[in-house]
Amino acid sequence: MSDLKAILHEAKAALSALKNMPDLEQTKARFLGKSGSLTEQLKGLGKLSPEAKKSAGAAINEIKGQVEALINDAKARILNTELEAKLAAEAIDVTLPGRTSGVGGLHPVTRSLERIEALFATMGFSVADGPEIETDFFNFTALNTPENHPARSMHDTFYIEGSKNLLRTHTSPVQIRHMLDHQPPIRIICPGRVYRCDHDATHSPMFHQLEGLWVDEGISLADLKGTLTQFLNAYFERDDMQIRFRPSFFPFVEPGVEVDMEWGRVKTAKGDKIKWLEIGGAGVLHPEVLKAGGIDPEKYSGFAFGMGLDRLAMLKYGVNDLRLFFENDMKFLNQFR
Ligand code: DAH
Repeated sequence: MSDLKAILHEAKAALSALKNMPDLEQTKARFLGKSGSLTEQLKGLGKLSPEAKKSAGAAINEIKGQVEALINDAKARILNTELEAKLAAEAIDVTLPGRTSGVGGLHPVTRSLERIEALFATMGFSVADGPEIETDFFNFTALNTPENHPARSMHDTFYIEGSKNLLRTHTSPVQIRHMLDHQPPIRIICPGRVYRCDHDATHSPMFHQLEGLWVDEGISLADLKGTLTQFLNAYFERDDMQIRFRPSFFPFVEPGVEVDMEWGRVKTAKGDKIKWLEIGGAGVLHPEVLKAGGIDPEKYSGFAFGMGLDRLAMLKYGVNDLRLFFENDMKFLNQFR
């Protein structure tokens, strides 16, 4: 009898410490398996007298029942703990903020450019492209700026060591490349990156320009003014914006002008006074430039202009520091999504 008590005691101790099902199976076998301690007890009954067998059998079965109950309890406890652990591991906190991939947006300069391209398209201009690593010939010589010409020093050029190549300092070389491949009528804009050794709030070593070129019979400065007036009014959503030309020098045009656009009006006793803002250079194509492009200057004429694309974007969106466009600060860029 004391054996049975000991078995029960042992079973209680063993089962209460169990943490998983494989251990439980093993423990169960230890008591109830083929050679488990309780099974051994039952086997021993055969040696007893019928009288003794009856009471001993009842005692063993009583303990066996208790051990089985303990096993069932332990099993329920283990399964429950396992379930709870699983639920905790898989728990989803529906109050957490979602992990989205974020909505991208176009860069403000790209947005401006897309708008500009669309506006020029309505005036019959298509978009032409050229390389950013340019030859000295296309960047300068073909644009009537031969070697040693003082105008070359206006550009602070990045030269590429050991070659005649350079980072283009303006988009004007695209004029020549396009003319060599096309005959008039030519009506293109050429947007793109340009490079100069220069860096402050209004200058970046890389910036964007917008070149324009119109070559046909009888094209004059009047067409230039009309085209730019039309474009700037559309771009700034105005209809009474004035533009002004100031005489200037660029080797590739004659006459050459600096283009100012109206940027505010001040009331004075003598009427409105316009505040002007310079936005680019322009002019009537120099005959040498037409020739370099393979076009007969006796038959055709044209105009060209070059504007700061970043400038146009800054004015459009009220950005006061050019560097903001190139620093990739998300606080700035997110405003344009
Ligand atoms: N390429 C000139 C510059 O970057 C700008 C310019 C002036 C372009 C006059 C033109 C032009 O097409 O006619 O300073």
